[in-house]
Amino acid sequence: MKVIVAKDYEELSERAFEIMKAVVQNNPQAVLGLATGSTPLGLYQKMVKDHEREGTSYQKIRTVNLDEYAGLGPENDQSYAYFMKKNLFDGIGIPPENTHIENGLAGDTEAECARYNALLSDLRQDIQLLGIGSNGHIAFNEPGTPFSSETHVVELAESTIRDNSRLFEREEDVPRRAFTMGLKNIMNAEKILVLANGANKAKAVRGLVEGEITERLPASVLRMHPDCTLIVDEDAASLLS
Ligand code: F6R
Repeated sequence: MKVIVAKDYEELSERAFEIMKAVVQNNPQAVLGLATGSTPLGLYQKMVKDHEREGTSYQKIRTVNLDEYAGLGPENDQSYAYFMKKNLFDGIGIPPENTHIENGLAGDTEAECARYNALLSDLRQDIQLLGIGSNGHIAFNEPGTPFSSETHVVELAESTIRDNSRLFEREEDVPRRAFTMGLKNIMNAEKILVLANGANKAKAVRGLVEGEITERLPASVLRMHPDCTLIVDEDAASLLS
């Protein structure tokens, strides 16, 4: 795993943008695996600005997102579908039919997971972008998730519900279940780009870079990927030896 320490969030977002832009330029039909959350927002803003100023085209790009809350549809402003539309898709002119995410409203969750797994085998990610949870989760693969997992429905860990409650009016409003790509779906990507900023990620980052490769720290699976880059700011890197 290649580790880049950026001095701050701005530099982290710029380095991530350079990597993402190279993928889009090399292959205008690339499949981008995308993430939600606070971490990629700086990168998404740079992609939008670049599209506006330089005209980088997303007409033929396809995207697959990591995860979605169960019970929330794309019209709900807390859904990840809504987040992606607002923070990236509307700003880069990508045709909506080229963007994919699990259907949070699916009644038959098993069928929905099977549909998404089939989609992911057709649309292998040229690059998969990831954030990391303070407990070491990637996507919503919480500690203990098998490395062999594919798309599934998870009960979110209490720590994840707490972390994510900042985005909801009340902690009780955070959905308890979510659809998520599995670790095997993530590892199938050609290239992986992990971003982490802030002191609350330092422990998970240390585990990812220097700890044991174990299902207790789902992100540690990434050390077995042949082309994985981690970009951290100085705060997130503060516990690295
Ligand atoms: C988001 C996702 C999560 C986040 C992680 C970090 O699609 O799958 O794993 O990447 O929880 O979240 P932030 O970036 O908000 O700290």
